[in-house]
Parts: sequence; C-alpha cells; structure tokens
Amino acid sequence: MDPEAFSGLCSVKRGVQTMGKDRETENTPERLLARAYALRNDNPEETLKLYADWAETYDHTMIDGLAYRSPRRIAALAAASESRRDARVLDVGCGTGLLADCLRGEGFSRIDGLDYSAPMLAVAKREGRIEEAFLRDLNAPLAMEAECYDMLASTGTFTHGHVGAECLPGLLALLVPGGRLICTVHHDVWDEGGFGAGLQALTDAGAAVLRSREADLLFEDDDEPTGWYLVVEKRPA
Ligand SMILES: C[S@@+](CC[C@H](N)C(=O)[O-])C[C@H]1O[C@@H](n2cnc3c(N)ncnc32)[C@H](O)[C@@H]1O
Repeated sequence: MDPEAFSGLCSVKRGVQTMGKDRETENTPERLLARAYALRNDNPEETLKLYADWAETYDHTMIDGLAYRSPRRIAALAAASESRRDARVLDVGCGTGLLADCLRGEGFSRIDGLDYSAPMLAVAKREGRIEEAFLRDLNAPLAMEAECYDMLASTGTFTHGHVGAECLPGLLALLVPGGRLICTVHHDVWDEGGFGAGLQALTDAGAAVLRSREADLLFEDDDEPTGWYLVVEKRPA
C-alpha cells in the first residue's frame, strides 16, 4: 500500500476524516475503514454490505495498511491457555480467518469459523484457514450444537456497531465446561456494548470466571491501549 493511503488509514482510525468528496463512493481502504467505524448495531444490512465490498481486500488493508496485531496476540494467549493443539476451536466473527491463521501458526489444527458475512467466510474457507464454516448472526439464536468447543477465540468482532454482550450466554453454551472464550473487546464498546455488565452478570451467576483482562494495543501503531484482551472460563452448570 502506498504511504499516502497508509497515512489516510491511520487518520480514519483516529477519527479524522481526510477523504475528498469525489472518493466517498469508492471502495478505497480509507472509505471501507471509515464505514466500519461508522457502523451501528441497528443496521445489519449496512454491515453485510460493508463486508461484501471488503472481503477480497480486507487482509491487505488490515495487515499491510494498519499493522493489525490482535489476531497474533489472541493466538498467543490461546496457546498459553490451552496445551492441547487438537482442541476444538471456533473463531467467532472469523471474517477472512486472520485469527484462525494465527491459531494454526500456534499449532491448533481443528478450527471452525462463524460469521454472518458469506463473502468473508468464503475467503476464510478458500484460504484453508477454517474447516467448517457457520453462517450465523451473533445477534440471533445460534442454533448450533451445545458444549462442542474447547475454545472460542475472537478478534475485531466485539467492536463498534457489530455485536453486543447479549450474545455471550449463547456463546458460552457452545463451550464445554472449563472451556475458554479468549477475545478482544474494543475499549469504546466495553460499557456501550454492555460487556462489563454482561460479564459481571455471568460471573455473579457462577456461569463464568474472568481469568484475565489486559488492556493493550489492537493495532501496532495505536498510541495507547485500544482494547481489552480477555480470557473467560465457562464454569460447570
Ligand atoms: C472487523 S471484522 C473481524 C474479522 C476477523 N475476526 C479479524 O480479526 O480479522 C468483524 C467481523 O464480524 C462479523 N460480524 C459483524 N456482525 C456480526 C454478527 N452479528 N454476527 C456474526 N458476525 C458478525 C463481520 O461479518 C466481520 O467478518
């Protein structure tokens, strides 16, 4: 990516709109990222349209343009947390499978992916990053087999205008007792998306234990921590 486009991306991420009117309708990396940051939970059509437009260039934008770091960081947390490399893992909101790819790099071999964008899932599948692909909406009942995953891993899904904490009980239901949800939550949605309160309710009810919560960068060039890195363990019923 050329240096000008790169600085444009960073500006968008910092909330500075640098685009000229003539470029507003193009699928430039800056425009796609600005659309991602402008998403609202009540407009799923807009989310689906964004990821359909972005699927084929998403990896390039995130890796080369933005030095996206959370997939590597979450994969390392997963590797430290789970010794069995044949553990069954579900990448939640897997997109093109960047996290699944990093989990494979850590030696995990049984990784499925869940997302509600068919074009993003198609890239993840085509690139061989996930085995089974589940086309599901996290804001609706998941209709999946209970207690069949040892680990749920997720990056970039609990963020602006995507998914709120209401999905957490449904996700925990997919885990075996003692299984872990290892994920990022963007700082901006910790309160707004109900993650703080939602996790507190689950721990108060004895359904889960928060094993760790660390503030850290989501992108290499963030000036300060932008997200929470969580390890949540499901307790037996
Ligand atoms: C920023 S991308 C992150 C993709 C990938 N996890 C990564 O880190 O590169 C967010 C993903 O969440 C998915 N997503 C957004 N809302 C969703 C929902 N309600 N249900 C399932 N997936 C959703 C999008 O389709 C998109 O693939």
